Amino acid sequence: MPKNRMAVAVLASGRGSNLQALIDACDAPDFPARIALVLTNVPGANALARAEQAGIPTAVIDHRRFPSREAFEAAMRERINKTGAELVCLAGFMRLLTPGFVAAFSDRLINIHPSLLPAFPGLRVHGRVLESGARFTGCTVHFVSAETDAGPILIQAAVPVHPGDTAETLAARVLESEVRVYPQAVRWIGEGRVRINGAVVEIDGVAAPVAALINPLPEAATAGVRRQPTISISEKK
Ligand code: GRF
Repeated sequence: MPKNRMAVAVLASGRGSNLQALIDACDAPDFPARIALVLTNVPGANALARAEQAGIPTAVIDHRRFPSREAFEAAMRERINKTGAELVCLAGFMRLLTPGFVAAFSDRLINIHPSLLPAFPGLRVHGRVLESGARFTGCTVHFVSAETDAGPILIQAAVPVHPGDTAETLAARVLESEVRVYPQAVRWIGEGRVRINGAVVEIDGVAAPVAALINPLPEAATAGVRRQPTISISEKK
C-alpha cells in the first residue's frame, strides 16, 4: 500500500454502487486513497451496509432532524473534518449543497452525474435523454461548483443509446461506466496528477482516444456482415 494514502469521505444516500466501486478500488495495493468515512443522510441506506461490510466508519446525519440546510451542513462538515478527509466524493448524495458547503471543500469535492454534462443536469436524467432522441449519453465525474451538476470535468464516458432502451436499461448501461470512471478519477487525484485551470482540469500523463464513436454504426461498419451469404443447412453438408 502507498504510504500516506489520501483520506476520502464518501457521501451517499442510496444504493451505493459507486461507493462499492470506490471500496473495491481501495483494495488494490497501489491505490493512493482510503475511505475514512461513509456519511449518509438516509437512515438505513444500502450504502451504509456496504460500508459496514467493508469495516469503514459510518455516520448517519438525517437532514430531517435539522432546522435548516445550514445546520445540517454544519453537522456534516464537522463530522467530515474530524476524519481528516482530504477529498469528499458525492456518490448518489441526494441533497443539494449550499455555496457555503461547496466553498468549505473548494477543489476537494467531486461528484458523479449520470449524463454527459453539461447536457442533462438535474434529476430524471435517463428519461429525459430518451425523450430528446440523443444517440449518446454517458457519465461525468466533476469538481463541484456552487451551480448544481456543473464544475470542472475530470473524466467522462460516452455511452450509446440503443433502440428500445427504457430509462432502466439505459441507467444500467451508464452505471457500468460510472463504476469504472469514478475510481479512476479518485486515483488521479490521489496520485497528485490533477490541476484545475479555470474551467478545465489538467491531468498529467493521460491520453485521449483518437477514434470518434458513431451511433448508429455507419453502413460501412456493418456492410461486411450483411454481405455474408446465407448458407443453408443442405449446402453445408
Ligand atoms: C448514480 O447514477 C450517480 O451517477 C448519481 O446517483 C446514482 C447513485 O447510484 N449521482 P449508486 O448509489 O451509486 O448506486
